Amino acid sequence: MLVTTTIAAVRARREELARTGRRLALVPTMGALHEGHLALVRRGWELADEVWASVFVNPAQFGPAEDFASYPRDLDADRALLEREGATLLFAPSTKEIYPRPPATTLDLADLTAGLCGPHRPGHFRGVALVVAKLLNITRPHVAVFGAKDWQQAVVIRRLVEDLDMPVSVDVCPTVREQDGLARSSRNAYLSPEERRCAPVIVRALEAGARAFARGERGGHALEAILAGEVGTERSARLQYAAAVDPETLQPVDVAGRRVLLALAVHVGSTRLIDNFLVEER
Ligand code: PAJ
Repeated sequence: MLVTTTIAAVRARREELARTGRRLALVPTMGALHEGHLALVRRGWELADEVWASVFVNPAQFGPAEDFASYPRDLDADRALLEREGATLLFAPSTKEIYPRPPATTLDLADLTAGLCGPHRPGHFRGVALVVAKLLNITRPHVAVFGAKDWQQAVVIRRLVEDLDMPVSVDVCPTVREQDGLARSSRNAYLSPEERRCAPVIVRALEAGARAFARGERGGHALEAILAGEVGTERSARLQYAAAVDPETLQPVDVAGRRVLLALAVHVGSTRLIDNFLVEER
């Protein structure tokens, strides 16, 4: 595996690859890799002949009061895990390499970021869209692989690629979970043992919502109330939002159709966790 910090080295390797005609998959990450990320790498191998990963903690997608400084970083561990999954290139640039000067371009996917995490993380999706556009332009993969855990992010990226006619297909993989259902996340590392014990209330709430849908509940507000009610049973969990939205437009549903996305953001202690279920009629 080639490990590089420079755009120039990535571009040179990409030129070589182009001459072989091999298909390339890219897995963009912020590192502190876990099974969720590794599932994306494995998916990459199903879709392409070569899989590259990037590890870059993107300052542009963190708010001033957010955890950019404390975000877990362990490049040696990430490198070993990627090596084990057979990735052939790891791009781990510095902030300076990606942002040699403050970018003048903004990518604002207004309608898709008006709800869910958008209002709670002003500027976050602008930062994500910008860095993903840059990473795709630097690496020029045939396919880029993302996780359904960050559903809104995946919808934003799909639309970005469509709107800008970027020559890449976007693949979205199912959420990888711990034994007790908690979605894998780099931020789970922040949880104290006591908080870790409480955190599965998030997935229990989504399960309660899914059961209600299966029983025939279609009211958006009713589904949201079920999610919120379940989160409310855990004292150290503080609900940020509970939402029932259209999975494609991300607009709140008044009455759910055959498919609805149930989504939650919850603070457990001071750690903000998100999760979602796509529920469908059988
Ligand atoms: P990060 O949080 O490191 O996640 C990288 C990718 O892994 C994302 O596509 C995310 O959805 C996926 N992922 C995380 N946890 C997962 C899980 N439990 N199961 C399946 N997939 C999971 O998301 C980002 O980084 C950044 O915003 C990025 C897209 C890299 C832009 O900076």
